[in-house]
Amino acid sequence: MMWERFLSERARLAAPSAVRELFRWAGSDVISFSGGMPDPATFPAEELLEIISDVLRERPQSALQYSLTEGIYELRDEIARLSRAHAGINAGPENVLVTVGSQEAIELVARLFIDPGDAVAVENPTYVAALQSWRAYAPRFVGVPLDERGMAVEALEERLRRLRAEGIRVKLVYTIPTAHNPCGVTMPLERRKRLLEIADEYDLVIVEDDPYSYLLFEGPAEPPLKSLDRSGRVIYLSTVSKFLAPGLRIGWVVASEEVISWLAAAKQALSLCTPSLMQYVVAESLRRGLALRQIERVRELYRRKRDAMLAALRDYMPDGTSWTRPRGGMFVWVTVPRGVDTRRLLDVSLRRYRVAFTPGHYFFVESPASSTMRLNFTYPSVEQIEGGVRWLSLALRELIEGAPNV
Ligand SMILES: Cc1ncc(COP(=O)(O)O)c(C=O)c1O
Repeated sequence: MMWERFLSERARLAAPSAVRELFRWAGSDVISFSGGMPDPATFPAEELLEIISDVLRERPQSALQYSLTEGIYELRDEIARLSRAHAGINAGPENVLVTVGSQEAIELVARLFIDPGDAVAVENPTYVAALQSWRAYAPRFVGVPLDERGMAVEALEERLRRLRAEGIRVKLVYTIPTAHNPCGVTMPLERRKRLLEIADEYDLVIVEDDPYSYLLFEGPAEPPLKSLDRSGRVIYLSTVSKFLAPGLRIGWVVASEEVISWLAAAKQALSLCTPSLMQYVVAESLRRGLALRQIERVRELYRRKRDAMLAALRDYMPDGTSWTRPRGGMFVWVTVPRGVDTRRLLDVSLRRYRVAFTPGHYFFVESPASSTMRLNFTYPSVEQIEGGVRWLSLALRELIEGAPNV
């Protein structure tokens, strides 16, 4: 049976990305810098076991029942508290929609706002699974470059001005302002304010995807765009995936009540509700302080891993290679000497050295820079980071010099 001929146009547009292939390397004999996975040693299994059994003992009837599409009240309330305390976002439970990871929220946003041909601005490069979700809705992506200070908002403004002159209106901007995936960079306060001004001037919706602000290792945390949002145009997404456990699949949206009710209508068609048991478990994790303790633990561990990766890059990478210095998150973005295609490098580093990473190519919506790559530092151990970067540098030297240099 050849299923191709039955596929909808939407399914074709959402064809599996090559980047997903790379996840299968994790857990094998390969040192993997490729996925975006937490260190499984951080998962608080014992504490969660206790919480799960308490929840099932104390409220089996609601924990195992369908729940409101918006999410159970206890969790929406805890998330609103966390958003106020951690992020300075002025939100109540009515401003929260609980989702199946923030990935579901990304999909819901597309369902709500994107018609075929709509212009949508994204950082170039950006989070690949957002692109995969949104591609099915056939938008016209407008790529905005990044530098060490996140999205170049001046370049965004320039693009918006030119597009407006052509009669094209950009509807929304998707941004990961803190500890960007894939680049690791964080947007400073001044740029955040400017982005909000531009959004007001051009009447844009801002989708702020913020899974990583809980993982800032140093320096004062920049306030989320949502906390500075006076006109209510920011839709804020976050998740417990990076500090508690991604297998819980609990994420959320913070937005105006009107947007929450539209998103809830879209979610009803997609999944009815987020698993009730997991919602109670996360609400309890927040209420008992487990989530905050986890944030502290995970930050400390990932800071050490980040330092190990930066030190290894400095020690081993050949001249002409540069990389970002993330203050948080999970990734370092590396640019190798021009002329080296990191897709070829991956081939060599996997075959000869058993080291995987994600070539930068897949994260771009336009003008892909094929001499870039994303390295994850949270999943591998410190020893694997040191050894793996050394092996990777040997693979790179092989390509640069055209001969093994072991
Ligand atoms: C920028 C960004 N957004 C969303 C997600 C998805 O997170 P979740 O596990 O909550 O679906 C990720 C995960 O890697 C991410 O990096």
